[in-house]
Amino acid sequence: MSFENRVAIVTGAARGIGEAAVLRMSSEGASVAVVDIDLDLAESVAKAAGKNAAAFRCDVGKPANVEQLVKDVVARFGKVDILVNNAAVCPRISIEDMTEERFDQMINVNLKSVFFLSRASAEAMKSGKWGRIVNISSTAGRVGGIFNATVYGATKAGVLSMTKSFARHYAPYNILVNAVAPGAVETRLITMMAQESIDNTIQAGPLKRLADPDEIANVITYLCSDGASWMTGATVDVNGGTLMV
Ligand SMILES: NC(=O)c1ccc[n+]([C@@H]2O[C@H](COP(=O)([O-])OP(=O)(O)OC[C@H]3O[C@@H](n4cnc5c(N)ncnc54)[C@H](O)[C@@H]3O)[C@@H](O)[C@H]2O)c1
Repeated sequence: MSFENRVAIVTGAARGIGEAAVLRMSSEGASVAVVDIDLDLAESVAKAAGKNAAAFRCDVGKPANVEQLVKDVVARFGKVDILVNNAAVCPRISIEDMTEERFDQMINVNLKSVFFLSRASAEAMKSGKWGRIVNISSTAGRVGGIFNATVYGATKAGVLSMTKSFARHYAPYNILVNAVAPGAVETRLITMMAQESIDNTIQAGPLKRLADPDEIANVITYLCSDGASWMTGATVDVNGGTLMV
């Protein structure tokens, strides 16, 4: 896989799966915009990724921010070829305790961002007649959220639907849009859960372990490569066999 001369935007890139995707794609030769709400952490990831990476602070839940982000990335790197919509929040809140404010926050960060950043990035990709957008969904988007992740699961189901609509819309420009639906991965999103819930999650899968973020980044990177030229509108389940469809 060669990513020479490719410019990628990865959101939620300051840690976890996003960080792993940045390090993998930059090691393959891509220039990478390391985007996160936490600029300090994003800067340390960009530093680790090398001289062709730069950190950008952006709250992706606000459309005006992501439109500006694309302009800033084009100003820095000259173009955009690849977008990985990875940023998300997953506060564990029961149905009884959910508030409108927390509901809207999840919709904004996990779903609204995917629409507006994909649209802004695709506009920048059109002239090059080549593009890759990878949206990070979740097994929760397929089966519904567990452990008080009801709204989170709904946002991730929305991501799967949006992936298909964008795939159809941008196909004439050779912009391919796919989703990855990870199972449980060893990142803050999982490790902040109660130990009993983590143990139950591990026992539910045939491989009896959590994934390493690199195991998701491998699949993301493939979908962003030239090799994935006949894939669009697809969802790749990367869940260690927890859900077999
Ligand atoms: N860890 C898992 O088990 C798992 C399973 C399925 C899907 N996912 C998905 O993988 C993706 C990455 O999750 P992770 O596990 O690495 O989580 P994480 O919590 O470790 O990382 C998420 C990153 O997103 C950033 N972020 C949060 N709100 C933001 C905002 N408004 N704007 C910009 N950045 C923001 C955070 O600062 C953080 O760096 C998410 O889409 C998540 O839903 C994770």
